[in-house]
Amino acid sequence: MSDKRGKRKIGILGFGCVGQGLYDVLQHNQLLDVANICVKDKTKDRPLPATAFTFDAQELLQDQSLDLLAELISDPNEALLLVRQALQEGKTVVSANKKMIAENLPELVELQRQYGGTLLYEAAVCGSIPILRTLEAYYGTEPLQEISGILNGSSNYILHKLDAEGLSYQEALQQAQVLGFAETNPTLDVGGYDALHKICIIAAHAFGVVIPPQEVLRFGISQVSTQDVALAQAAGARIKLVASAKINTQGKLEVQVLPTFVTPDSELYAVNAEFNGVQLQAKFAGTQFLKGRGAGSHPTGSAVWADVSAALAGYKYNYAKLSAAATATVAADALLRVYLRVEHRGELPNLPWQEVTSFGVNSQVVQLLGTIYRSDLLQHRQELEALGAFIAQVPDELTEEKLLRAAAVTELVAA
Ligand SMILES: NC(=O)c1ccc[n+]([C@@H]2O[C@H](COP(=O)([O-])OP(=O)(O)OC[C@H]3O[C@@H](n4cnc5c(N)ncnc54)[C@H](OP(=O)(O)O)[C@@H]3O)[C@@H](O)[C@H]2O)c1
Repeated sequence: MSDKRGKRKIGILGFGCVGQGLYDVLQHNQLLDVANICVKDKTKDRPLPATAFTFDAQELLQDQSLDLLAELISDPNEALLLVRQALQEGKTVVSANKKMIAENLPELVELQRQYGGTLLYEAAVCGSIPILRTLEAYYGTEPLQEISGILNGSSNYILHKLDAEGLSYQEALQQAQVLGFAETNPTLDVGGYDALHKICIIAAHAFGVVIPPQEVLRFGISQVSTQDVALAQAAGARIKLVASAKINTQGKLEVQVLPTFVTPDSELYAVNAEFNGVQLQAKFAGTQFLKGRGAGSHPTGSAVWADVSAALAGYKYNYAKLSAAATATVAADALLRVYLRVEHRGELPNLPWQEVTSFGVNSQVVQLLGTIYRSDLLQHRQELEALGAFIAQVPDELTEEKLLRAAAVTELVAA
């Protein structure tokens, strides 16, 4: 409901990195008024007067004068309760909470359909990059073949520092934390969970397939070593955490989040530091690539602002592919070509490799290149993670011969 000056009124739930970013960017918009902000911690110092805040989310949810709610809190369970309540009342909501959205998408779509409300969540996927709007508005009907990307800025920053400056994983992580690119508890980012939530949301919009995140193969970067990075460099590649969803040769959808040896012919090779990049391949449009800041206060605030403006103008996701009669189905299995390194040679479980080559001369470390079914890796994931194994996908162009040659070079340099 607009006020006397014709301004539309919004309420913000959460005033942390993203909430403050939204508040800042809204100062550049004369037509929107932040009427109320809800936070949790009564003892925190705030950059605005105390009268700007409430600690009771219901004050915002029950305020019929608000045109829109921006849900930007850090707790996904609480966020779901708030968004669910708002949608049940047919309200217009924007959110940046990827975990909450990825894990509850069918319910959130159904609530919008049933009660007529709107939920937009561009900021939840790649911060400032408008990937969901691109998928909805331009590729809502055109068949897509693949979407792959670097969807997590923190892990990309760390991998970049290892590659470009030779830092260790711990040094790069600490630097990322000091600069605010990584959380104090970085598990969601470096464990690949954040990218996983994002690729699941992307898969729903791009292919009309809702995949429970826990069913997707995911490995993170927390075990990467300078040895792995040196091997990739000697082979002419860079290690990146790549999330992908692609239609395979049998027409089935394959989704995964895996560290990957990326070669210079991929657009993702040059996505460095805290940047995100997404490439999509459409049946008729061909290949497209978007790059930008995937996180941070103002880039994410900007994406939320874009959603706020679009939602107030009546825009909704139409979920064309989700409601299409013939959506893709998820591939039962797939053969992957992976590099695996683990310390303590004796402890490696007996994995059902289809083909495997062992290399490296250090008796404490085992390095393998092999092919293995995704289901087998999924089955052994916990065991491999507990052992501290680093796993990365290797593209076919990095032949076994090339990789063994690269390994020999890195051994010589290390010797
Ligand atoms: N940071 C990024 O770059 C980024 C990028 C894309 C998406 N996101 C997503 O955006 C959301 C917010 O992230 P953030 O980085 O802004 O988090 P944050 O800096 O930790 O801030 C979270 C805010 O939520 C408030 N809050 C937490 N629980 C609440 C509750 N039950 N009721 C009311 N307020 C509550 C906190 O209140 P107090 O101030 O009182 O502690 C704080 O203001 C998350 O879903 C995140 O995944 C973040």
